[in-house]
Amino acid sequence: MIKYIGSKRTLVPRIVALANAVRAATGARTVVDLFTGTTRVAQALKGGGFAVTANDLASYSEVLATAYIACDAATADIVRLSALVEQLNALPGVEGYVTRTFCEEARYFQPVNGRRIDAVRAAIDTLARDPMEHAILLTSLLEAADRVDSTTGIQMAYLKGWAPRSHKALTLRVPELIAGTGTVARTDANDFVRTMSEVDIAYIDPPYNQHSYFSNYHVWETIVRNDAPPAYGIARKREDCRTVKSAFNAKPRAWTAFSELMRDVRATHLLVSFSNEGFFAKDDLLQLLQEVRGEVAAVPVAFKRYVGAQIGIHNLHGKKVGQVGHLMNREYLFLAGPGAIDIVASVAENVAFAV
Ligand SMILES: C[S@@+](CC[C@H](N)C(=O)[O-])C[C@H]1O[C@@H](n2cnc3c(N)ncnc32)[C@H](O)[C@@H]1O
Repeated sequence: MIKYIGSKRTLVPRIVALANAVRAATGARTVVDLFTGTTRVAQALKGGGFAVTANDLASYSEVLATAYIACDAATADIVRLSALVEQLNALPGVEGYVTRTFCEEARYFQPVNGRRIDAVRAAIDTLARDPMEHAILLTSLLEAADRVDSTTGIQMAYLKGWAPRSHKALTLRVPELIAGTGTVARTDANDFVRTMSEVDIAYIDPPYNQHSYFSNYHVWETIVRNDAPPAYGIARKREDCRTVKSAFNAKPRAWTAFSELMRDVRATHLLVSFSNEGFFAKDDLLQLLQEVRGEVAAVPVAFKRYVGAQIGIHNLHGKKVGQVGHLMNREYLFLAGPGAIDIVASVAENVAFAV
């Protein structure tokens, strides 16, 4: 799975445990993941037997969701997929947009791997016999490229010196597909909830600050779209990174967008990820959830002490100045909906508090 800021990798077991508890209490069967990103949460819920819909604005997320959520491993032709992946792995490199833009003008990948990415990306369009296979092969390429990149996990910059993993050869693997089916959308979440069919649970994990996922993962967006856009700056970002903005990345618009989303979403239970590092105040969020669903329970899931908090704030001369704002990054899961307090309390590992 690709490196992704805000990915709920470590929280997945807690989220699945809560969804299972909702199912045990209410017979819930259907889930929508409105900001699915890497699709990690959606994958785990699909693996746990829920009928899952995965939505996100990003094209790379749509590709991952088509492979992991829409595709049923039971019907996928793994022998054919393995042969295609082998064929792609044997392709000689060809200099193209990725090599020029992301390996010569920037240094996200070693040029030898950039040439392979260019060759593989072009071949996928001719080899794939349908959109599902196309998405599975693109997923395989994104994951292979991620394993040999030279970044810290976001594409606002690349490392000064090459990361050790960037010296490895780009190698595609068949993604580990999941049995079952699901549906995928690439729509603004606020638009999506106005037209979606009613579901039992909505998992909601929007961006909580000004950092744009479209800009932070522009290389994946460009590889998937294959549209060779004009690029700017040291990071060689797509030109449209200047204009494509999510309402959730702008403080004045984020709360309005979030409140509307909470009011419009057609789901009996809302499962919301929250971090106190973002734009929203916890109490405002709790009040909103109470308004829209009545009962709310909170599960504290991560309390990380800032490294900076231990060191303090220093000026350029190393002199201690100012005060650290708060010492902990706190993350919560909120469950809102009928019986939320009892449901949260039924999950053994939860130190829950009712709100
Ligand atoms: C915090 S991340 C979600 C991470 C995800 N839960 C995971 O584990 O990978 C937020 C996601 O929201 C998406 N996004 C931003 N604005 C959006 C919008 N208006 N509608 C739908 N998705 C949006 C971003 O592309 C990003 O993938």
